[in-house]
Amino acid sequence: MNSAPEQSAAPVVGILGAGRAGTAFARTLLRAGIEVDICSTRSPKALRHHLKIYAPGAHPVEQDVIAQRTRHSGPGIVVLAVPQEELDEVDPDVAAGTVLIDATNTWHDEILPGWLQAAVDEQMPTSQGIAGRFRRSSVVKALNHISHHELEDAADPDLPMSQRRAAALAADSDEARARAMALLVRMGLDPVSIGPLAASSLMEPGGPLFNRPLRRPDILRHMP
Ligand SMILES: NC(=O)c1ccc[n+]([C@@H]2O[C@H](COP(=O)([O-])OP(=O)(O)OC[C@H]3O[C@@H](n4cnc5c(N)ncnc54)[C@H](OP(=O)(O)O)[C@@H]3O)[C@@H](O)[C@H]2O)c1
Repeated sequence: MNSAPEQSAAPVVGILGAGRAGTAFARTLLRAGIEVDICSTRSPKALRHHLKIYAPGAHPVEQDVIAQRTRHSGPGIVVLAVPQEELDEVDPDVAAGTVLIDATNTWHDEILPGWLQAAVDEQMPTSQGIAGRFRRSSVVKALNHISHHELEDAADPDLPMSQRRAAALAADSDEARARAMALLVRMGLDPVSIGPLAASSLMEPGGPLFNRPLRRPDILRHMP
């Protein structure tokens, strides 16, 4: 069912997952003047009340149109904020043709889908497993290492770049990296590329960039 709102002139970002992380991303994007389409396992109607509380102004949509409005000015951006253990239930084609920001993490004893566990078993960061699964998107690892508690205070578009919280990102595509960096700047962060997806283990739980109040030099210190 197509439940996307009408086309608008403002940029639109799609968010898969409307929990703690997804709604924190939505609030931060909305504050920056970016429209947000968001979906979860619930129907748009069922999600509406939740969003009134946790992300007022975000548009609830069906999962199959999550990328639709994001594409009106080039390949759009969709943020993946669904727990990794649920990723078998997400059709990778819903994000086809987009820059997919993988904001997910593996938590404790989460039982991962077989394809993701296989990547982990090969010592890959999970973003590489996700890139293999979402192969019709350009995957960028970002936004996973800042807690939903902190994001809204940490991201401040009014601050000069040198005083902003730094946000690491990793990508194999330069074009996708550039699009994601522009979004992070607009959200009020100072994006710092740490290289290809293979480097993104630095950003995972247990890595030196995870859940720390970083400035640009703190991230650059960890780069080869
Ligand atoms: N919490 C944080 O501070 C934080 C920060 C950065 C990154 N992350 C990462 O983001 C991911 C989500 O974490 P969270 O804390 O937001 O989890 P959460 O609060 O449990 O929310 C999970 C959301 O995903 C939705 N979902 C589950 N299966 C889905 C599916 N098949 N299709 C679409 N939506 C689906 C849920 O839908 P319903 O609402 O319908 O149940 C819910 O809205 C995790 O990998 C986490 O590590 C979390």
